[in-house]
Amino acid sequence: MDVKLSEIITVSSLVKKYDNKFLALNGLNLNINQGEIIALLGPNGAGKTTLISTICGLTSITSGKIEVNGFDVIKDYRKTREIIGLVPQELALEPFEKVINSIRFSRRLFGKKDDNKYLNQLLIKLQLFDKKDNIIKSLSGGMKRRVMIAKALSHNPSILFLDEPTAGVDVELRKDMWNIIRELKKEGVTIILTTHYIEEAEMMADRIGIINHGELLLVEEKNKLIKRMSVKTLKVKLKKSITKIPKPLEKYKLKLIDDGNSFNYYYNTGNMKTGITSLLSDMNDIGINLFDIQTEETSLEEIFVKIIKD
Ligand SMILES: Nc1ncnc2c1ncn2[C@@H]1O[C@H](COP(=O)(O)OP(=O)(O)O)[C@@H](O)[C@H]1O
Ligand SMILES: [Mg+2]
Repeated sequence: MDVKLSEIITVSSLVKKYDNKFLALNGLNLNINQGEIIALLGPNGAGKTTLISTICGLTSITSGKIEVNGFDVIKDYRKTREIIGLVPQELALEPFEKVINSIRFSRRLFGKKDDNKYLNQLLIKLQLFDKKDNIIKSLSGGMKRRVMIAKALSHNPSILFLDEPTAGVDVELRKDMWNIIRELKKEGVTIILTTHYIEEAEMMADRIGIINHGELLLVEEKNKLIKRMSVKTLKVKLKKSITKIPKPLEKYKLKLIDDGNSFNYYYNTGNMKTGITSLLSDMNDIGINLFDIQTEETSLEEIFVKIIKD
């Protein structure tokens, strides 16, 4: 059965040109559904942080329109900002403040009344409760990241942005973060995270969007994307090395490797025809002899690089 998804964020024809004329977002369209986790993947400088800043109303937009929960992020800034929590890319904490005060202060910035019960629950959930009276400076890196999340959630938002939550974070802490994010999803929070770790998108996201040069190259359900992109690599070792791919084989888009001693052929496992038989037969016709072949799974990493390059 198809479940009707309701849109919580709508980004239409969004253009952002910085004052120095740099075009960071180039007519971007994106819809985000209530309750989903969407991962925005893209290399450094792709425009991920700019996109988040515009949705959160922290950066002006050049043209286009953004709606959050049906309200315009510029005209109705307070209404939209109030339901958004943002964990920024850079650690930004007051070193000498106590954990609990820092979180209370964040909540007050949204004009919300103190709610010790809610904040205590938040601290428990983020495993910070026994540190609530410690000053931030005394916390480990992982705890500081959790304080950032607690601050972002202090006003009880229904949308949470996490900008590169696990950049430069060790494996253990990364898993912790993933668990926290999953728990929040269970509570119905809509989560938008940016990352350049493919693995993270693979582990966490319902949908994946790929951004490069200020454009959304694709956005698709993760499972469909992986299936559609499930490519295998056939590595063909040659008897004699070659310096370039001969003309009759160009159509196979081979990649010469190992100083011309081998090449890679990529084929989609979703297709009935892999093209391997005709490749081998064409090689035979022009007298290129193979020494050995082997197949490997192509990683999502390679798929990602291929999408960005194409
Ligand atoms: N305040 C600014 N003024 C000018 N250019 C900027 C500014 N902020 C970001 N940029 C540029 O916009 C591009 C996108 O940046 P950003 O959104 O931070 O990318 P990402 O988060 O994907 O790494 C980059 O080339 C960056 O240098
Ligand atoms: Mg960024």
